[in-house]
Amino acid sequence: MSDQKVDSERRALILATSAAGGVAVAAAAVPFVASLAPSERAKAAGAPVVADIGKLAPGEKMVVKWRGKPVWILRRTPEMLASLEKVADRVSDPASEKSDQPDYAKNTARAVKDEYLVVVGICTHLGCSPSDKIKPGNAEGMPADWQGGFFCPCHGSQFDLAGRVFKAMPAPTNLEIPPYTYLSDTSILIGEDPKEA
Ligand code: FES
Repeated sequence: MSDQKVDSERRALILATSAAGGVAVAAAAVPFVASLAPSERAKAAGAPVVADIGKLAPGEKMVVKWRGKPVWILRRTPEMLASLEKVADRVSDPASEKSDQPDYAKNTARAVKDEYLVVVGICTHLGCSPSDKIKPGNAEGMPADWQGGFFCPCHGSQFDLAGRVFKAMPAPTNLEIPPYTYLSDTSILIGEDPKEA
């Protein structure tokens, strides 16, 4: 074998080794980057999402997506909170004891902080999305004694402003309260229960 041929074979071997090393480094870097910035796929699979509620005015509602579900955040006024007591004897499960809900949902306001309702906006009957009927009275096509809440157009289930279902409705349970915790006064982490954090 000539010296020239040995040199060229050695050079080819060195190049191949370097290339393989480069691939290994790149492959190792990808999961590291992924762990720093959760992808949309990770969010869909259940990663918690942060909701910025800093601009939500009293009486307004915003929607964020968590695990592919709409999560409503309603900033309730004192009047809205007062309406919950007025309908207490008309809702089917006032303290949310008949369904699996976080402990902080097992009361009238069904919230960590009474002012903010955080609830999954999916009807517990067959999964339709209830409509906002937030204004009291018949302005939005509800009965005159309506105190404000949500109405599922699919089969007529009615919910109050805490997502509690009224008696004799197709929906069997109150709307689901997701796990969530406050990161600050204006930021909510949805998908993580304070007990497990
Ligand atoms: S899906 Fe809401 S009442 Fe049937």
